[in-house]
Amino acid sequence: MNQFEGIICGDMDIVLDDLIRQGEKYDLILTDPPYNINKDFGNDSDKLSIEDFVEKSSERIRKLKEVLTPTGSIIWFGIHDYICYIQIAMYNAGLYYRRLNIWHYENGFSRSQKEPATHYEPFLWFSNHPKKWTYNVDEVRVPYKSTERLKSPVKYKGKDGSTKIWQPNPKGSMRGDVWDFPTLAGKRFEKEKTEHPTQKPESLITELIKAFCPMQDGIFNGRILDPFHGSGTLGVCCEKLNAAGNKITWTGIELEQRWCDIANARLEALKDTRGDDE
Ligand SMILES: C[S@@+](CC[C@H](N)C(=O)[O-])C[C@H]1O[C@@H](n2cnc3c(N)ncnc32)[C@H](O)[C@@H]1O
Repeated sequence: MNQFEGIICGDMDIVLDDLIRQGEKYDLILTDPPYNINKDFGNDSDKLSIEDFVEKSSERIRKLKEVLTPTGSIIWFGIHDYICYIQIAMYNAGLYYRRLNIWHYENGFSRSQKEPATHYEPFLWFSNHPKKWTYNVDEVRVPYKSTERLKSPVKYKGKDGSTKIWQPNPKGSMRGDVWDFPTLAGKRFEKEKTEHPTQKPESLITELIKAFCPMQDGIFNGRILDPFHGSGTLGVCCEKLNAAGNKITWTGIELEQRWCDIANARLEALKDTRGDDE
């Protein structure tokens, strides 16, 4: 295990410079940074002026590009108000647009009756290479919504010009760019939810790892970085996948000791359920 694997409790702006100096490279940067909406993480990171938010985000994205492998990707969560600034910063950093995705949920809280209730958070996918990247289409297929198309044959022209009949993929339909996963609100997520104010659901983060982490010999085998690790969801999801036989190495950087402690406790709880004696 190298010194940068696992949880690093520190300032990502400082740790990132170390990662660059040491020549560390990641296949995937999957992160949920402060959205700049005034949340209390125990620091002022979510309370910047727009100018500072744009400047800081742009500098971080420029530097994060330096730790991406040539075919690596960045997945970056944001909020509808400000995701535009992040998208521009990604273009300016020389990254390549792949998709503006939507995390869709219906069990969020509504904060105002003067506007529609919030049912989504956008997240951007940019790649480091214009033509090469990882997307594991078969790992994230979803059930077909209806069998209507099967009632009469659907014909299409194949590449060789011959007429073909469409057959459903036995692994399911291609996932779309709207990712449906409930937030951790309510009693049914009591066990998963920690005190962190913006903890992401493991279901969503696991699905993203499956979609974007490189595979080798049928297992997930890549390096993932989350520079805003919070309560440690990324690490927990990677370790659960590793317990099922995958070989993901990961780094999670978090500024606040309180959230690092929670992340460590979540990892320890996993070991307890697995009966590890390390
Ligand atoms: C949106 S939260 C991440 C939540 C995480 N996805 C989870 O599931 O728990 C963003 C986190 O970034 C942390 N943070 C803010 N500035 C940071 C910095 N400069 N270095 C490292 N972490 C930072 C905050 O303390 C906060 O916990």
